[in-house]
Amino acid sequence: MTNYTNYTVSIHYDRRLYRHDIAGSIAHARMLGKQGIISEEDAGLIVDGLGKVRQEIQEDKFPWDETLEDLHMNIESRLHALIGPAAGRLHTGRSRNDQVALDMRLYTKDVLKETVQGLRATQGSLLALATRYQTGIMPGYTHLQRAQPVLFAHHLLAYFQMFQRDIDRFCDCYRRTDVLPLGSGALAGVAYPSDRDFLAQELGFREVSANSMDAVSDRDFLLDYLAAAAICMMHFSRLSEEIVFWSSREFGFIRLSDEFTTGSSIMPQKRNPDFAELARGKTGRVYGDLMGLLTVMKGLPMTYNRDLQEDKEGFFDAVDTLLATFQVYPDMLKGLTLDEGRVAGLAGESFMLATDVADYLVNKGMPFREAYGVVKELCRHCETQGKDLQDLTLEEYHCFSDSFDQDVYSITAESSAAARDNPGGTAPNRVAEELSRAKELLESTANDL
Ligand code: ARG
Repeated sequence: MTNYTNYTVSIHYDRRLYRHDIAGSIAHARMLGKQGIISEEDAGLIVDGLGKVRQEIQEDKFPWDETLEDLHMNIESRLHALIGPAAGRLHTGRSRNDQVALDMRLYTKDVLKETVQGLRATQGSLLALATRYQTGIMPGYTHLQRAQPVLFAHHLLAYFQMFQRDIDRFCDCYRRTDVLPLGSGALAGVAYPSDRDFLAQELGFREVSANSMDAVSDRDFLLDYLAAAAICMMHFSRLSEEIVFWSSREFGFIRLSDEFTTGSSIMPQKRNPDFAELARGKTGRVYGDLMGLLTVMKGLPMTYNRDLQEDKEGFFDAVDTLLATFQVYPDMLKGLTLDEGRVAGLAGESFMLATDVADYLVNKGMPFREAYGVVKELCRHCETQGKDLQDLTLEEYHCFSDSFDQDVYSITAESSAAARDNPGGTAPNRVAEELSRAKELLESTANDL
């Protein structure tokens, strides 16, 4: 016979909320006792019983029962077995609707803290790497074409900024998650003198929800997390893409430590950047998790609808993906080495200094557009001659403009970078400032969660 109830069961995934569910129930029982809604004695029994349930789960001794559908029913039923009829009073002035909304908010608040810590660790590794190669110069790209020399540290700190914005987004998400839904009942509020401020204080919420109907049906805080997670993984994916091609023979910019490469089962020479590839690949599932929940939400009338149970698996998947990425990424970054000689060499060749030659002419008084035209012609000439700009003789330079002097040969990748000496630019002194600002930011995490 078909077991139809399988369709509605959520215990195999919502059990991860047990600590939050029990914390919510303990606070609720205390509030009921304090308000005289149930006796202090029953409240005490319930609180002790819930402590035992928690211990059983922690010790893997809890008798999970699929026929009880979800976590809430499992815990209540076990409480009944442990303390008897008093257990039946726990659900006074509460519904599974405000209960599950509470669980998800408590869980998300915890997860947000871990998420921000993971991002801080990643930033820490970027900073360490940038500091190690503080003066290393490399080709900077636009359109994946070599463009202008930049400091390797400057390139890495671009990701530091991206992760800083991610942290901002997660902190913002925390603010909206930090609202207590308990006390909303099924949808309309509760018919008991419930003390919601007490509950908020016990459970560490900044405020109580203003509308019971919104409180039981709102999952915006999960969408906030998922949206921030999707953007955050996009950042990891971009960095991963660079790590993948930087570590290729064609680029040969970096070498990953052995722990973060794998061999091929057939090609003995291979050192594949699997961890970076997987971070790039796992970005897809987080985007999917966001789209999944947006789609679950889009047609829901007020208030609670069972569809909302489908908020969990995708959300947990996104959380697991982010936290797993934070487990590997900081160490992978720390173990990465830069081939400084190779990248510095490439930074000075292949017309990387063309803009600087134009800037040179501007400094001699030529309008920029004209200088741009002169250097464009120069580059074209070089290409036909198979030369780089630095290889031209002064006579050749003079064929294009009289403004050229011997000092044109002092244009180097280093002088090019040093010239970008404005706020946010890649000049070594600016990058040094950027590094110390980043360091300060990591030391003063007072605004973190
Ligand atoms: N398992 C449900 C969920 O995750 C709990 C709430 C059930 N509420 C209800 N009225 N059936 O959303």
